[in-house]
Amino acid sequence: MSDSPVAIVTGGAQGLGAAICIELLKKGYRVCAVDIQGEKAEEFAKQQQLVYGKENIIAAHCDVSKESDYARVFEEAIKTFKRVDALINNAGILLESNPRRTIDVNLMGPIYGCYAAFKYMGKSNGGNGGIVINTSSLAGFLPAAENPVYTASKHGIIGLTRSFGMPLHFDKDGVVFACVAPHMIDTDILKSANKTLVPDYDISKVHSHILMRPEFVAKGFMKVLEDRINGSTLIVIPGEYRYIGTQKEMRELNLL
Ligand SMILES: NC(=O)c1ccc[n+]([C@@H]2O[C@H](COP(=O)([O-])OP(=O)(O)OC[C@H]3O[C@@H](n4cnc5c(N)ncnc54)[C@H](O)[C@@H]3O)[C@@H](O)[C@H]2O)c1
Repeated sequence: MSDSPVAIVTGGAQGLGAAICIELLKKGYRVCAVDIQGEKAEEFAKQQQLVYGKENIIAAHCDVSKESDYARVFEEAIKTFKRVDALINNAGILLESNPRRTIDVNLMGPIYGCYAAFKYMGKSNGGNGGIVINTSSLAGFLPAAENPVYTASKHGIIGLTRSFGMPLHFDKDGVVFACVAPHMIDTDILKSANKTLVPDYDISKVHSHILMRPEFVAKGFMKVLEDRINGSTLIVIPGEYRYIGTQKEMRELNLL
């Protein structure tokens, strides 16, 4: 049995999540791709097994808004691979018409994921430490008039990551927290742009010239995985990866 590192990727059946799984496989990670679209995740994993080996990727059904699904997925990954080193909280929705579901999936999901990471990877619980990479968005910094609740959820991800990324947590559990905040990516989520506030809004047409390929953004996740800067946020914009944060300014004001 290989002892190469293992990553769980939520929302791994398609789009950015699938691209992250492939980049991880290329790097020699073993991967557990989980998604609310369980069958689609299984199909994706079978295709990747043909390229990267049957023993290197599995799939599971998981609704990230259910805390118990995270526990099941960690246990399944540990049973199959004997270890978990990284959790990529990538699953997300853009469903402005349902604010509660948006927060449940986009924010509560990663919150459950972070606590599961402490439980299953944290040194204080007998684990070896590891890394959690959360998925925010440029909407994690900037206002988006068309999608206020989505924007709130993505702002929340940055606060969550920065707070769990403080030494208090690392010193106890050895888990690094970082997040990636991409600009627009050519994936299905854009089809669900908000029609509630702006009935004729077509996000894909408005911004088609700056849409990024999921593979380019997935490579940003690999950079974060390698750099392991606790509490950091990497923005991904066309042609560029850049860490940004307000910690420096806050330190100058003696607030951090
Ligand atoms: N596409 C963009 O422009 C863009 C920009 C910035 C950030 N993001 C973020 O990237 C992440 C990935 O989205 P994408 O662009 O690949 O879109 P996508 O719609 O193609 O993929 C999202 C995936 O998440 C899964 N999912 C949805 N709800 C889930 C749940 N409750 N439990 C588990 N899985 C669930 C979906 O089935 C799907 O496979 C999201 O967090 C999104 O907010 C996307």
